[in-house]
Amino acid sequence: MTKIAFASDHAGYALKNHLMLRARELGYEVHDFGTFSEESCDYPDFAHPAADAVESGECEFGIAMCGTGNGIQMTLNKHQGIRAALCWQPELASLAKEHNNANFLVLPARFITRDMAEKVMDAYLNAQFEGGRHQRRIDKIAVK
Ligand code: RB5
Repeated sequence: MTKIAFASDHAGYALKNHLMLRARELGYEVHDFGTFSEESCDYPDFAHPAADAVESGECEFGIAMCGTGNGIQMTLNKHQGIRAALCWQPELASLAKEHNNANFLVLPARFITRDMAEKVMDAYLNAQFEGGRHQRRIDKIAVK
């Protein structure tokens, strides 16, 4: 079963629960790295463990959200092995996988409806990395 790491702060908590449920229904194994309530918290506390799980191979990829998506995306992208893409419409999510081989989908929980978030997640899950010239570009992202 493909394992997905989920992470959010309080602003993304409700959307995380919703998308985890859908991911389970679609047959994925869900690993929830928190947060676990709507109490105010700091997104790096949950983003870093989720990023570690993807970098180590414990989970194949991740899905994360905070209010804007920016804070949690910035945190995830500090990890050398993570390519986290902030997406608010399905085509962005497809391209993030096809061209960037994004291993974290990030959503702006306060700026997206549940219905659109589902569509964005589905687009990401159904897309395939195209490799080729895109792999060459990805290979140049890391700071040596
Ligand atoms: C929390 O209020 C908010 O700042 C956070 O969810 C996120 O948008 C930060 O980037």
